[in-house]
Amino acid sequence: MKIGICNDHAGVDYKNAIIDMLQAKGYEMVNFGTDSTDAIDYADIAHPLANAVESGEVDLGIALCGTGNGMAMSLNHHRGIRAGLAWDNEIAALVKQHNNANVLVMPARFISIEKALELVNIWLSEEFQGGRHERRIAKIPVE
Ligand code: RB5
Repeated sequence: MKIGICNDHAGVDYKNAIIDMLQAKGYEMVNFGTDSTDAIDYADIAHPLANAVESGEVDLGIALCGTGNGMAMSLNHHRGIRAGLAWDNEIAALVKQHNNANVLVMPARFISIEKALELVNIWLSEEFQGGRHERRIAKIPVE
């Protein structure tokens, strides 16, 4: 599986730790984020990742910024993206089980790197439950 990852200046160390962990597990990783702590604008990084998920260049995405909200707001402007913000284990599980998030977004300034790794593992290991949740996610896109 190929996973794209993006981050602004707040998420560089988190991104690197996630890439190391997932490469060790056999995932192919594509880095759309900055490798510098110089300030950048999250939307400039989010849109290329969203395009890659929508086109199928990557199977799933992971995104990090300070609060996670800038990335989530930018990513969710793309019709094919369901970017879900998670900061604890239960939300990371539910964002896959109920929302089938194809991008996991995390708030780098509010969780530890260890927690981010845990959330990624939970999100990747959970399955979308379908059923009533399929009907609900089908109503998300607008023209
Ligand atoms: C950067 O300072 C910060 O605004 C950004 O990382 C993010 O939190 C925005 O939503």
